[in-house]
Amino acid sequence: VSYGVSAPLTVAFHAGSQGEWRVVRQTTRIGGELPVAARIGTGSPVDTPLWTLTGFTSNLRYTTASERQRLDARSAPLGRSEARMAALIPIRKSAAWWAMAQDERRAVYERSGHTPIGLGYLPGIARRLHHCRDLGEPFDFLTWFEFEPELEGEFDDLLARLRITEEWRYIDREIDIRLIRT
Ligand code: HEM
Repeated sequence: VSYGVSAPLTVAFHAGSQGEWRVVRQTTRIGGELPVAARIGTGSPVDTPLWTLTGFTSNLRYTTASERQRLDARSAPLGRSEARMAALIPIRKSAAWWAMAQDERRAVYERSGHTPIGLGYLPGIARRLHHCRDLGEPFDFLTWFEFEPELEGEFDDLLARLRITEEWRYIDREIDIRLIRT
């Protein structure tokens, strides 16, 4: 049996003048802004970064076994050479979200159709979810996506569909940072 769970991976996103990704656009959807940098990278920075956001991969919280099977069958890995575009979308959820019990949060997540909606965009959009609430960071999640530049319109459609869901009413800070690998 494969449980599909690897050891937690900690990732620090450094924004500044260096890094493998160039910032092409940064849009604050809700909540406080972040300074706009020229580049973002995950390697050790030489100069002091403009900002650093750190998160870690973790076990699943809202995914059933059959959903995980469908996700694993369709998900693409990060780092595909043709996937030259990325989006880093830091997200914070509200006190009302965190005040709910696990079953209440799962119910909102499920009613919102997050997984079925997302499944429709695999394997073109590759993704990795980083958690950071427990680190005392200014966000709860650092979401990361990689795709071919030609798929940016599809990615925007995906975001539009998610942003009208019940789940998104609990998001009180969201910044959409688009990047290109150069
Ligand atoms: C969580 C799938 C796109 C933001 C999840 C989870 C799944 C998933 C399965 C639950 C993980 C768990 O069980 O803990 C997908 C798929 C996508 C997609 C297949 C298609 C590419 C997006 C997009 C965003 C997003 C575009 C918005 C930026 C999040 C956040 C969580 C999450 C913030 C954590 C929710 C929480 O723990 O409260 N996603 N997702 N996802 N996703 Fe997506």
